[in-house]
Amino acid sequence: MGSRSISDETKPHAVLVPYPAQGHINPMTHLAKLLHSKGFHITYVNTEFNHKRLLRSRGTHALHALPHFRFETIPDGLPPSDLDAGQDPTSISYSTSNNCVAPLVELMSKLKQSASAPPITCVVHDGIASFAAKAANILGIPSVLFWTASSCGLVGYCQYPYLLHNATFPLKDESDVTNGYLETKLECIPGIHNFRLRDLPSFIRTTDPQHIMLNFVVGEIEAAHRASIIVINTFHDFEKSSLDYLSSLLPAHIYTIGPLHLLLRQINNTTTLSSIASNLWKEDSSVLHWLNSQSPASVLYVNYGSVTTMSSAQLAEFAWGLATTKRPFLWVIRPDLVEGGASMSTVLSSDSEFKKQIEGRGMITTWCPQEEVLNHPAVGGFLTHCGWNSTLESVCAGKPMLCWPFFAEQPTNCRYACVEWGIGMEVAPVVEREEVRRLVLELMEGENRGKEMREKVLEWKNKAEEATNPTGSSYQNMERMIEAMLNIKP
Ligand code: UDX
Repeated sequence: MGSRSISDETKPHAVLVPYPAQGHINPMTHLAKLLHSKGFHITYVNTEFNHKRLLRSRGTHALHALPHFRFETIPDGLPPSDLDAGQDPTSISYSTSNNCVAPLVELMSKLKQSASAPPITCVVHDGIASFAAKAANILGIPSVLFWTASSCGLVGYCQYPYLLHNATFPLKDESDVTNGYLETKLECIPGIHNFRLRDLPSFIRTTDPQHIMLNFVVGEIEAAHRASIIVINTFHDFEKSSLDYLSSLLPAHIYTIGPLHLLLRQINNTTTLSSIASNLWKEDSSVLHWLNSQSPASVLYVNYGSVTTMSSAQLAEFAWGLATTKRPFLWVIRPDLVEGGASMSTVLSSDSEFKKQIEGRGMITTWCPQEEVLNHPAVGGFLTHCGWNSTLESVCAGKPMLCWPFFAEQPTNCRYACVEWGIGMEVAPVVEREEVRRLVLELMEGENRGKEMREKVLEWKNKAEEATNPTGSSYQNMERMIEAMLNIKP
C-alpha cells in the first residue's frame, strides 16, 4: 500500500493519550501541537478531573481555540478530589491501568463512527499509559509509544527485571536505604556507566517485591518491548550511549524529537497554539515583573516540579540555605509541597529573623510560567528536582542546575547532569543549610566547578538548538516519525 500524503483531503487523525500528571501532559501537549501544525486532526484525551482543572486555569475558550484540535475526556477511576490536589503517582498509575481501557475503547468507537472526525490513523500514548495501547489493539488501531522522560531513565527502568533476577533488589531491609548499600557501584550493566544503585529510577528501592509502582513500571516496560514505534523527548547528541543501548534492546523504531518545546518553536512560532491549555495550577505571571527588576544572572530559581513533597524540616534547611547566600531567589512552593499540609507561611512566618534576611531579595509563589522564568536574563541558575521537562528546559535556557532528585527517573537524570553532561551539582539527600549555601554560591559565582558548568550548559544549549534546526537530528527524525505514523499498521 502506498503512503498516504499529508495533503489528502482526509486529514490523518491522531488520538493522544497522556498519563494524567503535569510532567507528562506538558510534553504530550507539545507533541499534539506539533502534529497539528503538520496537518493532523488531533483528539486529545484528558481525564475528567484534569479537564476541569485545565478549564479552571485557562478558561473554556482555550479548549476550543483551534479547528481540528478537539478535547475529549474519560474518567480516571479516582474518587473526586479538590481541584488543587497534588498528584499521587501510585493512585494514578493503579487507577488508570485498571479502569481506563473500557472508557477509551468506548470513546474511540464513537470517534470511529463520528462524521465530524476523520478515521483514526493512530493512537499516541504515554510510555506509562499502556492501557491506551490495549484499547487501540482491541479496536485494531495502530499505536505509537511516546516516552516523555529521559532515555537514560528508560535504560534504568529496563534494568529492573535483571536487577530483580540477580537479587540486587528488592532491598533486604529498610535499613539498606541509609546503611550505604545504595552507594554500591553498578558493574557491567549495558548502557549505564559510572552508576550507583541510588542513581537508578527510584521505584525499585523497596523491600516489597509486590510494590504497586514497581509492578506497574515492570508491566509498562514489558509493553514497551511490544511497541513498533517509540518517540522520545530527547536529542541524539545528548543521550547517544543510552539511545544506542535502547536501539539494541527494543525492537521498535526509535525517533528522538526533543527538546520538543524547542522543536515546536521551529515548526510553529505563532501565538495561536499558546492558547491550548496544559497547566494544572494557575500561573503567577507577576514573577516576570519582579525578575525585570533584578540584575542579569543574579537570581537563583527554585522549583521542585509537580509531584515532589518534603518535610517541614527539609523546607527549613532549604530556606535558611537560600537566606544565608544573601542572593536573590525566586522560590515556587506548591500548596501541597510540604508533607502534612503545612504551608510555607506556617512553617516560616513565625520566624521573623528569616523574613528580615530575605526582605527585598526573596520572591515566593505557588506556580509560575517556568519556561519564561528560566529564559529570563535575570535567572542565573536552577535548584531543581531533575524532572525531565525541567532538565530539558534548563538546558535550553542555558542555566546550570543544583539537583535534588525526588523520585522516578530523577536520580538518573541527576547523575547524568552531574557526571556525564557536566551541568549540575547534587545536593545530598539529607539536605543541610550550609551545603545549600555553599553550592548555590558555587553555582552562581564560583570560579571552578561553577564556571565550568555555566560554560558547559551553553554548549548543550547550542547543541539542542542545532538538533531542532531544519538540518538537525530531531527535526529530521520528526519528518521520519510522521512518515512512519502515516504508514503504520496495527
Ligand atoms: C514528573 C517526574 O517528576 C519527572 O521525573 C518525569 O520525567 C516526568 O514526570 P514533574 O515532577 O512534574 O514530572 O517534573 P517535570 O518533568 O520537570 O515537569 C514539570 C513541568 O511543569 C515542566 O514542564 C515545568 O515547566 C512545568 N512547571 C513546573 C511550570 O510550568 N510551573 C511551575 O511552577 C512548575
